[in-house]
Amino acid sequence: MNICRHCFSCDSSRVRCTVCVHSVFVCVQSCHATKPNMLNVHLVPHTHDDVGWLKTVDQYYYGDRNNIQHAGVQYILDSVVDQLLKNPDRRFIYVETAFFYRWWKQQSSSMQQAVKQLVNEGRLEFVNGGWCMSDEATTHYSAVIDQMTIGLRFLNETFGPCGRPRVAWHIDPFGHAREHASMFAQMGFDGFFFGRLDYQDRAHRMMEKEQELLWRASDSLTPPVADLFTGILPNGYNPPEGFCWDQLCSDPPIRDDPDLEDYNVDDVVARFLLIANSQSLVYKTNHIIMTMGSDFQYENANLWYKNLDKLIHYVNAQQTNGSRVNVLYSTPSCYLQELHRANLTWSLKTDDFFPYADDAHDFWTGYFTSRPALKRYERISNSNLQTCNQLEVLGGPTSRKGPFGKGDSQTMKKAMAVAQHHDAVSGTEKQHVANDYARRLANGWQHCKVLVSNSLAALSGLSAERIYCDNLNISVCPLTESSKKFSVNVYNPLARPVTWPIRLPVNGTAYSVSDAKGKPVDCLVVPVSEVTHGVRRRRGFAVNELVFQVQAPPLGYSTYTVSLIQGGPPPASAQPRGPTMIQNKFLQVTFDPDTGLLSGLSNLETKQSIKLTQNFYWYNASDGNNAGSRQPSGAYIFRPNSSTPFIISRTAKTQTILTSVVQEVRQWFAPWVSQVVRLYADSRALELEWTVGPLPIDDSLGKEVITRLDTSIKTSGYFYTDSNGREMLQRKKDFRPTWNLKQSEPIAGNYYPINSRAYIKDDVDQLTVVTDRSQGGGSIQNGSLEIMLHRRLLYDDFRGVGEPLNETSHIFPEGLVVRGRLLLTLDPPQTAADTHRPLAEETVLQPLLTFIDGDLKPNTQLEFSGLLAPLPPAVHLLTLSQWDEDSVLLRLEHQFQSWESKVNSEPVTVNLQKLFSTLEVLGVAELNLSANQWKDEMKRFDWTPEKEKPLLKTYEDPATWEVTLRPMEIRTFLLKVNLR
Ligand SMILES: *[C@@H]1O[C@H](CO)[C@@H](O)[C@H](O)[C@H]1NC(C)=O
Ligand SMILES: *[C@@H]1O[C@H](CO)[C@@H](O)[C@H](O)[C@H]1NC(C)=O
Ligand SMILES: *[C@@H]1O[C@H](CO)[C@@H](O)[C@H](O)[C@H]1NC(C)=O
Ligand SMILES: [Zn+2]
Repeated sequence: MNICRHCFSCDSSRVRCTVCVHSVFVCVQSCHATKPNMLNVHLVPHTHDDVGWLKTVDQYYYGDRNNIQHAGVQYILDSVVDQLLKNPDRRFIYVETAFFYRWWKQQSSSMQQAVKQLVNEGRLEFVNGGWCMSDEATTHYSAVIDQMTIGLRFLNETFGPCGRPRVAWHIDPFGHAREHASMFAQMGFDGFFFGRLDYQDRAHRMMEKEQELLWRASDSLTPPVADLFTGILPNGYNPPEGFCWDQLCSDPPIRDDPDLEDYNVDDVVARFLLIANSQSLVYKTNHIIMTMGSDFQYENANLWYKNLDKLIHYVNAQQTNGSRVNVLYSTPSCYLQELHRANLTWSLKTDDFFPYADDAHDFWTGYFTSRPALKRYERISNSNLQTCNQLEVLGGPTSRKGPFGKGDSQTMKKAMAVAQHHDAVSGTEKQHVANDYARRLANGWQHCKVLVSNSLAALSGLSAERIYCDNLNISVCPLTESSKKFSVNVYNPLARPVTWPIRLPVNGTAYSVSDAKGKPVDCLVVPVSEVTHGVRRRRGFAVNELVFQVQAPPLGYSTYTVSLIQGGPPPASAQPRGPTMIQNKFLQVTFDPDTGLLSGLSNLETKQSIKLTQNFYWYNASDGNNAGSRQPSGAYIFRPNSSTPFIISRTAKTQTILTSVVQEVRQWFAPWVSQVVRLYADSRALELEWTVGPLPIDDSLGKEVITRLDTSIKTSGYFYTDSNGREMLQRKKDFRPTWNLKQSEPIAGNYYPINSRAYIKDDVDQLTVVTDRSQGGGSIQNGSLEIMLHRRLLYDDFRGVGEPLNETSHIFPEGLVVRGRLLLTLDPPQTAADTHRPLAEETVLQPLLTFIDGDLKPNTQLEFSGLLAPLPPAVHLLTLSQWDEDSVLLRLEHQFQSWESKVNSEPVTVNLQKLFSTLEVLGVAELNLSANQWKDEMKRFDWTPEKEKPLLKTYEDPATWEVTLRPMEIRTFLLKVNLR
């Protein structure tokens, strides 16, 4: 019996809330008995329901567009529940809460009651339980935590503790990130199962019986905090060959009436025993698992269950004849419990499962970059959602219902959660589905805009209409283009004051800008580039951009006013010739006068200097006609035809603008590749703003465009990439830490996901590149780092999507144009994190600009901070979100690794009662990372690694209200609050 307790209360004396036992839930422990001296085969009936892929999430739910793919999740759940009710022995697991939630809402209360019963009895078990099964290569940790939180919250609130999944289940994602394992551990999961890993890795693990292992997923958190027991499923997530009894399959049913034709029980039993016995040879215990199901199966669950009932009956009947195989209906948590009981030691893994190859020329490293525009849109949407969440808390109830109507953050939360799916942000869906994900995000943002306007009206005391400009990156903003006087509200979602440069499209030539205190702000006007004119098409008419720096207080805003100066001076002009150097007080950047390319980068403070050449290239995508393999490059797979990429141009045409606010060199390489190299006066980073597309395909060649930085840094084959935007991992060319790699794709086999940054370094210099979205990249030559920016392909890569990745849109019928930024810093390795951690933080969470036309009403509150004081630089405020009427969810994160920084890798203490300016904190309770379990009730299985002993984590908070964050720690709190 498992006893599950829960309760949350605060006493009135305002001391720390206590977690008490006021209700006791009993989840009946329902695993079928196993037989200790037999081979136990755990049959796990399951369905894999993609939250959008070939069809949209709603089409999948209803079973619409079955001409594309026969799949209807509503029928699956109807049918499975019906079949579970018919026979108490049967089991089923369900994974994707986005679908389950849709179904649940439509059930009668008697059906809901029946399903609760199934859950309480463990006959229907939730696993994973997030809104979707997230992609691991292209997602950012903050969005993953959010999507798990909303799914698991729904399960907890609907089913209580018995609905809490104990097992994480990523059977389909195409490679596995260490940070995902770390997060799952901190979400309280006892174990993790997945289906896909490199074919060489699998072969090696089968031989060593290391398909079940202990993953130590953090180098900073004290074990076992980030330890996760990890199991590799035997057959992807499919049933063993010959045993698929879904309506989508064509394996023979069990024909068990000897009077009828084709009686096959003996044959089925013999084949099953053979498979079970051979599977047991590559696993450690006398328990093995078989996934009985696959994509969108169980729509007619009777087919599966009828045959599984018989299979179990007939295989076990052989025990009387001496068979040592025992088959049972099971679930991942029942299987895991047996592995835990086995009390063995497990091999320890500390790296990750990237890249994933399913054959010698089939590296799934293309999707790291596929659909770069969607990847960027998803990342901006995350930033907007965090701002929306924060302003919902800070503005109080008026945010949801105020002068601008009803606003909400829920729509955006769900849209973002859906976008984390392993065929969403990954870029591996059909085009019409990608459009649907983007539409959902846009719709979510519409709901948030109302909320944000309401909240800012409440905080500023001004309810004038706010204008949002979502296309500032291409110099489009209808208000600033035409207005003679307007104000800009700059909201800062970070918990420390931040300075950002902003660029506003304008049509005048001279403006004056003043800050919230009325002080004039240095600003200047530069002409909009030809390239930008070209990209924005007819979506705006501004001829200039107004550039100035803004500063906003932590979790707050500042207001700037902008006025046109009639007859002012002309704008700064672009000089046709390139300079040989640009610089500010931190960095000096040199160019080769002959080629117009970057040639060097120096840090003026640390007096270090490297040679740095940067250019753009494209790999010719394989069309599948190569000797050795017919694998083309596609949405998933990167397979260049040759290891030598084509150079787009040896030289760049350049223009230069040198001013006191910004220095920039505009480089033009080809009609489809250009870049601005930009250095703002107060920036420690060099900005490379690239514009790539439409990739020409009139030569019938698919193209994968990279930028490559070639430096004098002595890298010895190493480079470093982040895992989901958090901890850094070391990569080495043609090398895998846990097996002897036979490298068969010299480029694609050396690509890794980059979510927020990558760096190369030697003892003296570290060049860090911060990206604005997830991308793929590698270090093929010493001293070199390449990042794939855009890809356009003419063939499908045979992994199911059934379309070439060839993106066009109504504005770009000739092919998508994509623009983005890379931020470069040069530092000594010992202090590099002190620069790149805050820089990446500012890139992920961007300021939100809103505009009001004309004069502001007197007495408008021009400045506001939601914090009483900034948080220390090591602490990131990861989540501030309304939980229910009187409580908010808060996550505080230590954003440095333990070895990264002399100053910042120290524990930091924060006082929760002295955080917020608008909130009185009455009580606090700590939760697990996904906020579906109280921290002090979180008990996970302990596992023993081979060789090492696990350490037990102990820490104490210094005093009531004070919480200490150690390197890389995220702590999650529910705060009971009052608006001050
Ligand atoms: C597990 O194994 C260890 C060492 O082999 C032993 O000391 C311990 O008692 C075992 N635990 C259980 C629960 O059997
Ligand atoms: C913007 O400025 C350009 C050049 O000064 C001018 O031709 C155009 O009419 C202006 N457009 C608007 C809408 O003010
Ligand atoms: C889980 O949901 C129940 C209601 O079913 C609620 O009382 C409890 O506080 C929730 N637990 C957590 C950790 O949020
Ligand atoms: Zn899938």
